Amino acid sequence: MGVMETKIVKITDCLSDAEKIRAAAEIIKEGGLVAFPTETVYGLGADARNADAVRKIYQAKGRPADNPLITHIADFADIEQITSGVPEKAARLNEAFWPGPLTMILKKSALVPYATTAGLETVSIRMPNHPAALALIRESGGYIAAPSANASGRPSPTLAKHVAEDFDGRIPLILDGGPVGIGIESTILDLTEEVPTILRPGAVTRDMLESVIGEVRMDPGILSPDSTRKPKAPGMKYRHYAPRADLTVVDGAAADVAARINELAAQNISQRKKVGIICTDETYARYSQGQVVSIGARSDEETIARHLYKILRDFDETDVDVIYSESFAAPGIGEAIMNRLLKAAGHQVIHV
Ligand code: TXA
Ligand code: MG
Repeated sequence: MGVMETKIVKITDCLSDAEKIRAAAEIIKEGGLVAFPTETVYGLGADARNADAVRKIYQAKGRPADNPLITHIADFADIEQITSGVPEKAARLNEAFWPGPLTMILKKSALVPYATTAGLETVSIRMPNHPAALALIRESGGYIAAPSANASGRPSPTLAKHVAEDFDGRIPLILDGGPVGIGIESTILDLTEEVPTILRPGAVTRDMLESVIGEVRMDPGILSPDSTRKPKAPGMKYRHYAPRADLTVVDGAAADVAARINELAAQNISQRKKVGIICTDETYARYSQGQVVSIGARSDEETIARHLYKILRDFDETDVDVIYSESFAAPGIGEAIMNRLLKAAGHQVIHV
């Protein structure tokens, strides 16, 4: 329910947008919230050094208090003020991947309030690869704490429209930079461990990281649903997003997957249930019943990543009872895609 007017301001490129960015930065500097585009997903930003401002993020999202925020910077030199010591590996990763979809966890300095880190002694830091985001960060003093700009429990926003769906009337400003480029949140790498550890997979893959800093491991807590190990990124333990419909992933050879999904769809339809199907351009023609949506070409995992959250949001607008999705296991960003899809499915998988 809206108590304030939410302005949605279109931005295009840095030069003509300078005035809009300045106005947005004013809001941040005064302790308010601004939603802004990044290359991964839209973020909901506040001054990371201002505990009261940061608390507004938790309030607006309905975010659990134990779930820390990422601090966004625009210049690598600024990392020194918010950390207590920058390891050499962080400098090498900066050279290789920043600005970009990588978040590094380091020991925090006193400048970062516990409101931002949810009480942890570490701070997660990212330099987004988006001109408007970088300009906004610089203009507002260098440090913007920002989670994905969705209400807690909903898919991350890949369009300004998604942000408005969740926050219209609750935040003063949304900067609309159009559709995001990547569509899935950044890779999170914990550099406080002896062996750097991936806490959340993203577009910067383990192989890419290892080629720059040597051995990297995966947090065992994110690998399997029945792991007894708790994920180290507090946010990864929450079932991020449960679609209204019951979502199941069907995994196996393409022809077998289509056959099984068609069989399951027919069964459900005969019971008067509405069925949604998430498939690919290559397999689209194999499905003849239910609401069939192609997520993109199977060979183009970047497109699949970009469409995933939008498709999940769109299905929430329809009245389907069950959704079957093909699986998209693939190298590269495929691991991140499957991580998010399996979380949305509550790890319900049928292997054929
Ligand atoms: O791509 C992204 O990273 C986007 C854009 C807006 O930059 N942001 C994003 O933030 O995905 P959020 O809050 O939705 O996810 C941050 C994740 C959460 O799972 C949180 O628990 C974890 O990072 N995290 C943050 N700081 C941490 C820390 N110090 N130690 C462990 N996990 C941390
Ligand atoms: Mg999030």
